[in-house]
Amino acid sequence: MPLEKASGHDKKLQEKLIASGAIPRHIAIIMDGNGRWAQKRGLPRIAGHHEGVNSVRDMVEVCGQLGIKYLTLYAFSTENWKRPEDEVSFLMRLLLKALRDEKDRLHQNEVQLKAIGEIHKLPQDVQDELLDGIEIMKRNTGLTLILALSYSGRWDITNAFRKMYDDIRAGVVKQEDITESLIANHLSTKDYPDPDLMIRTSGEVRLSNFLLWQIAYSELYISGEFWPAFRRKELYEALAEFQRRERRFGMVSAQLKKDSESRVFPLSGMERFLKSVSKL
Ligand code: FPP
Repeated sequence: MPLEKASGHDKKLQEKLIASGAIPRHIAIIMDGNGRWAQKRGLPRIAGHHEGVNSVRDMVEVCGQLGIKYLTLYAFSTENWKRPEDEVSFLMRLLLKALRDEKDRLHQNEVQLKAIGEIHKLPQDVQDELLDGIEIMKRNTGLTLILALSYSGRWDITNAFRKMYDDIRAGVVKQEDITESLIANHLSTKDYPDPDLMIRTSGEVRLSNFLLWQIAYSELYISGEFWPAFRRKELYEALAEFQRRERRFGMVSAQLKKDSESRVFPLSGMERFLKSVSKL
């Protein structure tokens, strides 16, 4: 079944955005403010997480419609395990339910599901559902939806060094071989380009240990809305702001004009690697 298309006014807004500038290839989102959204309404915190799933659904749909290739969602951080046990347990059940309920629709919409983080720490039923979804959707060609689960940026970097250690000790990797692309190729995100745009909701201006290595050149956008209230209209505002920014990657404006197309998106770890190999 083809991707569900936007309609009416929404379709016009999307067409306008596509015509007015670059659409990010990869968006990463720190979904913050579920608890505060609920508390503001006199509801328990978990009601915010519950409503947050509707924002996730909206983002996935609209990112697919806009032709965005990668969407990474910070769904559960390494630090989130420290929350009260009943909240952690609710979040895990919610994740399980969302995966079960949405799997068919995601698949029909050509979404490719992926996960990064310490997946083995999740409850077994969540792991099973997640791996099943990943397997079913592995040949899809639409949006790649990457769920960061039991994830943190420092865990990712530490893990990369652990993976490189054996090669270093065996002498396969020498000191001069340790480059940015070697490190990037050992991160959990090695198959994806770095995010072009990182969004955080709820007005907090922090990275909270999300994709620390990968966001070196990402545009940061802070929305004042709590995550359950962040829907397509708010995403369109973020994208319009992204289009107004000039990404210089450490260069000056005049250099960018010459090389604009290839510079809008930074290269992925794999692309950097292939480029460096092709020069040998
Ligand atoms: C942060 O809000 C949000 C989370 C820790 C969980 C995010 C999870 C979901 C939106 C639902 C499941 C996700 C998927 C992918 C189906 P917070 O609790 O920190 O809010 P607060 O800062 O107001 O306390």
